[in-house]
Amino acid sequence: MPKHVAIIMDGNGRWAKKRLLPRIIGHTNGVKTVKNIVELSRKLNIRVLTLYAFSTENWTRPEEEVKGLMSLLKKYLKNELENMKNNNISFKILGDISKFSQDIQNEINNAIEQTKTNNGLIFNLALNYGSRQEILRAFKILIEKNITNPSIQDISNALYTAGLPDPDLLIRTSGEIRISNFLLWQLAYTEIYITDVLWPDFSEEEFYKAIINFQKRDRRFGGIKEDK
Ligand code: FPP
Repeated sequence: MPKHVAIIMDGNGRWAKKRLLPRIIGHTNGVKTVKNIVELSRKLNIRVLTLYAFSTENWTRPEEEVKGLMSLLKKYLKNELENMKNNNISFKILGDISKFSQDIQNEINNAIEQTKTNNGLIFNLALNYGSRQEILRAFKILIEKNITNPSIQDISNALYTAGLPDPDLLIRTSGEIRISNFLLWQLAYTEIYITDVLWPDFSEEEFYKAIINFQKRDRRFGGIKEDK
């Protein structure tokens, strides 16, 4: 089983377009998939699940869409807190949430605070997240700490993912073959799985397919197998 699964949830807009529906309906259906995948990850005893929900670049989308996403996020946090508490899920954020409205920041901080002693699934939501921005922030943390000759571990420790294992598996839905400023440092040895399925259609079965595909990979981390 992968210990850490990271997902670029893509294709909500196309899912809606195919049905001649507004984009926000695609996102609304995307939230249903988020709920299913969190639940499934917990059941499968995956240690860490990281979902890319809003990138630093997503602010450039039309105001109406950004507003719609914010409203979905607020509703999600409100509705899911009890579920996270009851299911031993520890909720964390990767990214700079200071750009969000005060009420969303309060919901986020409340969810983090109320789930921080949970020791089941670690659920990271990447919000206003960009990997280059994260690495730049790490540089600044190191400078501030006067670490002038940092090790790889020092850099890892200054990232939002400090203390967590790197992703074993990265899933991207909707067929795009790119990383899009997501976890550039942490993905060094991650297995990548791309599926054409659009995020709102990413079902339990599709998640199993990704995991089974991962389990067939020959991971060498730059080395060679002893029998070769
Ligand atoms: C990509 O679809 C998806 C996003 C930009 C955001 C992902 C957001 C959600 C799943 C809903 C909000 C999440 C939570 C946890 C409340 P796209 O719009 O880029 O699709 P397209 O490429 O087909 O246009």
